Amino acid sequence: MSVRDALTARAPGGLRDRRGRMLHDLRISVMDRCNFRCPYCMPRETFHETYRFLGSRERLSFDEIVRLARLLVRLGVRKLRLTGGEPLLRPNLTDLIGDLTAIEGIEDVALTTNGTLLAKYAFELRAAGLQRVTVSLDSLDPQVFMRMSGGFGGLEEALAGIEQAARAGLGPIKVNAVVQRGVNDHTVLDLLERFRGTGVIVRFIEYMDVGNRNHWRRDAVVPSRELLARIGARWPLEPLQPAYRGEVAERYGFTDGAGEVGFISSVTQPFCGDCTRARLSSDGVLYTCLFATQGMPLRDRLRSGASDEDLLDALRALWRARADNYSEQRQEARAAEGARKVEMFYIGG
Ligand code: GTP
Ligand code: 5AD
Ligand code: SF4
Ligand code: SF4
Repeated sequence: MSVRDALTARAPGGLRDRRGRMLHDLRISVMDRCNFRCPYCMPRETFHETYRFLGSRERLSFDEIVRLARLLVRLGVRKLRLTGGEPLLRPNLTDLIGDLTAIEGIEDVALTTNGTLLAKYAFELRAAGLQRVTVSLDSLDPQVFMRMSGGFGGLEEALAGIEQAARAGLGPIKVNAVVQRGVNDHTVLDLLERFRGTGVIVRFIEYMDVGNRNHWRRDAVVPSRELLARIGARWPLEPLQPAYRGEVAERYGFTDGAGEVGFISSVTQPFCGDCTRARLSSDGVLYTCLFATQGMPLRDRLRSGASDEDLLDALRALWRARADNYSEQRQEARAAEGARKVEMFYIGG
């Protein structure tokens, strides 16, 4: 029996939620802090100098994260993504990566970063077993970048980080750009111009109404269809098959062979039907949707001696009860909104 079959055999029939979706990906936020203040994620007026971030005892330890990851692998997880805040601000992150990549059954481990510390850590991350990185970078225009990072700059560092990651073999490298009308939508072609033909895959993300504090307005969303038309007029594009079932980005190839571009369209073309993702916050709450209003707190259970079987029962029950499809019912959900959604920096996108 292969490792994969053996692991599946432990979850006979596969664990499914109320919409028939399996659990496949775990996104782990290892650090709630960030060295940026992107207005669409952690606006400065809220996340100021006296904002109370988690203390180090409040964050899950590496052992606690690894234990939960191992248990979730038994329930179907095959893919891990480390996020933040900014994950590279977590001290000794490479130790955690070493432990996670060694878990039997894990097929893919990636990291999402703003890139400012990536040049420093790229080789170390690769040596610890990390397979690839995704860098959030919204524009190459220094003024636009400055505004979208909340006044922090760091464009040159992020670009140097991408280069070093390529040298270290952390590919395929992806660049994620959130597009906001009137803010950076005039700079999307420049971003593509820079990375076309380099092997770096640029993906444009529709601006989402995550959290409660980013002043989201629908008219600031640039629908992917519109971007696709604009990009296709400059460089002809052809649709590509998804790289794997449930891929969040829709892929298009440049017909001149210079690579591909992706669109993540959770506002205009929701993809909840195939959503196999769970999200673990840095203080150990497990959420089954990016827009959740509540999750399952696990830290105290971990610290008060819960057995693996108890934890597995709770996790199984959580997934079986899951019916989330926020993006598919955004209008209704927003209208009915009373409860506060979880913040993006806290569960990592
Ligand atoms: P790959 O494994 O490289 O395909 O990564 P991915 O696209 O699954 O993950 P990534 O973190 O790069 O996702 C990019 C962005 O898509 C995130 O920052 C979110 O903005 C958005 N996104 C990812 N997953 C979800 C999801 O489940 N729901 C919604 N609404 N948006 C998501
Ligand atoms: N809409 C879309 N994407 C967002 N991200 C953060 N906030 C938003 C938002 N409001 C993305 C960032 C980064 C990842 C951590 O989440 O671009 O790629
Ligand atoms: Fe930090 Fe990323 Fe949020 Fe920007 S989007 S504030 S870089 S976590
Ligand atoms: Fe999954 Fe929730 Fe995103 Fe839908 S809105 S794709 S259920 S995380």
